[in-house]
Amino acid sequence: MDIVVSGIRSTGNLHLGNYFGAVKNFVKLQHENRAFFFIADYHSLTTHPVPASLHSNVKQVLVEYLASGIDPEVATVYIQSDLPEIAELYLLLVMNAYNGELERCTSFKEKIKSQGENINAGLLTYPVLMAADIIIHKANKVPVGKDQEQHLEMTRTFARRFNRMYGVEYFPEPQAYNFGKSLVKIPGLDGSGKMGKSEGDGNAVFLNDTPESIQKKVMKAVTDSGPQEVNQKKPESIENLFAIMKVVSREDTYKHFDDLYNNREIRYGDFKKQLAEDIITFNAPIREKIKDLENDDAYLKKVVKQGAEKARESAAKTVSEVREIIGIRKF
Ligand code: TYM
Repeated sequence: MDIVVSGIRSTGNLHLGNYFGAVKNFVKLQHENRAFFFIADYHSLTTHPVPASLHSNVKQVLVEYLASGIDPEVATVYIQSDLPEIAELYLLLVMNAYNGELERCTSFKEKIKSQGENINAGLLTYPVLMAADIIIHKANKVPVGKDQEQHLEMTRTFARRFNRMYGVEYFPEPQAYNFGKSLVKIPGLDGSGKMGKSEGDGNAVFLNDTPESIQKKVMKAVTDSGPQEVNQKKPESIENLFAIMKVVSREDTYKHFDDLYNNREIRYGDFKKQLAEDIITFNAPIREKIKDLENDDAYLKKVVKQGAEKARESAAKTVSEVREIIGIRKF
């Protein structure tokens, strides 16, 4: 049996990228493994949220993850900050993380560009906290999207370094996981890069978007003047829309529009209309569940309490063993 850990930052609502990159895999994996799922609220502090919005974001992410199929009776669901053991393990690991390797991390370099006025030390040491999240349960599988690949590589580095430094074989080296296939990267609707929470309006489709809003976003998505040649390679903005269609639509729908494109017969209006419809159909049951769960504070409270208790057992054991290995011992 594998130990699986999955997490999400509490910085906004869940979008299709989160779902297809990380949640879908976790929903399957939770049944066959020892599965931990948590909401990374410590991580979200790098963006300096105001207290009220931090709390409501944590709740929203919790609700949307549960609505997506994570079963708290099967997986251990908890809030990161309910486990102070994670903060301690982070502290212990950060002593063996080198500035150079942290500064070279792609996500840090991107933050320097996008968050210029707030380059705090939490951003620099973000991969160390993420490593602590994972190895605190001695996990070996981490279902994530492609964007987290480098962080997983760093997690392995920190785990390996700890083992070598203390001459133990304590931490496993966790692998990013997608059922043997390459990791998923869901693109945004705006023709650029990936779907993300902070990529601006019109980029992401959120799981709780209304049908009207989905329709509007998809119809506005960037296209071009149409294929010039038969069987030509699709430009990025068109390829992106097809990539989204691939995950939400039926296979024959995808093939239909792909054939039309290849024969130069595609009408982008029809294509987008179908895509919007399929996203709406995909989202509908999740949105229903979101509405139910949002109003059930008593249930949510029970879920996180029970999750924290279970997760702390595993976390406390690891931290106590790590202290012993490092030489932090009682007199
Ligand atoms: P976050 O909150 O940005 O995203 C949560 C998960 O969703 C995946 N994801 C995507 N997958 C495919 N296509 C996309 N467009 C897309 N956008 C997001 C992410 O890869 C991720 O799996 N650092 C993490 C949170 C974290 C974590 C952890 C994850 C903290 N500690 C420990 C796993 C294990 C993050 O910011 O993900």
